[in-house]
Amino acid sequence: MAGAEEQAPVSPASAPAAPWRNFYGRTSGKTLRPIQRRRLGAELGPLVPAGIDRATNPERRPVDLRTLFATPRPLWLEIGFGGGEHMVHQAARHPEVGILGAEPFINGVAMLLRRIDEAGVRNVAIHPGDVRDLFDVLPAGSVGRVFLNYPDPWPKRRHHRRRFVTPEHLDPLARVMAEGAELRLATDIPDYMRQALEEVPPAGFALRAGPEPLPPWEGWITTRYEAKALREGRAPAYAAFVRSAAPVRAAAPPRAG
Ligand SMILES: C[S@@+](CC[C@H](N)C(=O)[O-])C[C@H]1O[C@@H](n2cnc3c(N)ncnc32)[C@H](O)[C@@H]1O
Repeated sequence: MAGAEEQAPVSPASAPAAPWRNFYGRTSGKTLRPIQRRRLGAELGPLVPAGIDRATNPERRPVDLRTLFATPRPLWLEIGFGGGEHMVHQAARHPEVGILGAEPFINGVAMLLRRIDEAGVRNVAIHPGDVRDLFDVLPAGSVGRVFLNYPDPWPKRRHHRRRFVTPEHLDPLARVMAEGAELRLATDIPDYMRQALEEVPPAGFALRAGPEPLPPWEGWITTRYEAKALREGRAPAYAAFVRSAAPVRAAAPPRAG
């Protein structure tokens, strides 16, 4: 998400869970408008599953999937949903599934809440924090589809190990995905796709489709970040990976710096 903006004073009710791992992104941007604060105060809480953050689940016990949505349903995950447009679009298209989204940028969470309101979707849950918190506590094989739309590009070579497509993220992601589940990636950075093609398969995935200049699946909508990439002359590329039966590698230790 772009722009150096004033830090938003965020109330405890709306604050993302305090990070306990290295997190290099932004958790807040422009000062939240009163209506956004009200939404965060009143509407976020009921959509946040219990037992995800370390404060409520320091032992990192697995969450009971039946508590995520009002009725049991297949679980999909969107990593870094930004303003939430793609997540709400998917929720509306697939009322039979439950979509859990993780996003530490609180302004994005506020945008998602507005979109949920406008679309009237009921099959979404929100973790207003780092997706790795979810990897700790989601049961193995519990996720049926994952969207990774325009992950932070970290263009400098010395920052490539911060990218999502590294073992520190991919191995725990592979653990929570069911065999046959799909990981859908969109990026505007050719070197990001290069790294994904190199690092995703050894984490227990096979390339199913792409990389292509058009999404190799139905139901794509342009996200805010994609619109910005197009305006700035960068070309989107898409790929889909399928979780294979390969066992998950031993967890890589978190990197410092
Ligand atoms: C470039 S933006 C793209 C946002 C959105 N997917 C889109 O296409 O418009 C990347 C997003 O990933 C989020 N992000 C970065 N690291 C994350 C993490 N560890 N867990 C969850 N979200 C993360 C950032 O806060 C940011 O909103």
